[in-house]
Amino acid sequence: MKRIITFGTYDLLHIGHIRLLKRAAALGDHLIVGVSSDELNISKKDRAPVYSTADRVEIIKALECVDEVFVEESLEKKGEYIQRFKADALVMGNDWEGKFDEYKPLCEVVYLERTDGISTTQLIGDISERL
Ligand code: CTP
Repeated sequence: MKRIITFGTYDLLHIGHIRLLKRAAALGDHLIVGVSSDELNISKKDRAPVYSTADRVEIIKALECVDEVFVEESLEKKGEYIQRFKADALVMGNDWEGKFDEYKPLCEVVYLERTDGISTTQLIGDISERL
């Protein structure tokens, strides 16, 4: 059984997220998703997600391609999470290309192409313009 782990905020779930998660799931048998906490996002992106951590976790858990979900509390703990969840592969979108190569001694590291033309940040901008 091949276990895949991936991480993200997954705020305002959109088609880029779904495609990434489906392709990550197809690389193995069990997909584990680390959803970053509100606190982590505030420190990383300087803004709180629109949806709370609990809601984002519940939404990702409801997806058919996802088997397990946990809250990612710290960016620096990826190595710990990989070991804790016994992941065989870490999958990330290619906006992170090369940034997680340090985990190659722990598991396979795969970067998947992002979907063009959509992101949560862009959606927030598009919605604000319509108001
Ligand atoms: N992702 C993707 N295609 C997109 C947007 C995101 O494949 N168009 C992937 C990212 O590469 C990541 C995962 O989805 O592996 C979660 O990304 P996240 O940062 O939560 O989504 P973004 O839309 O990029 O959010 P933001 O604009 O806040 O950075």
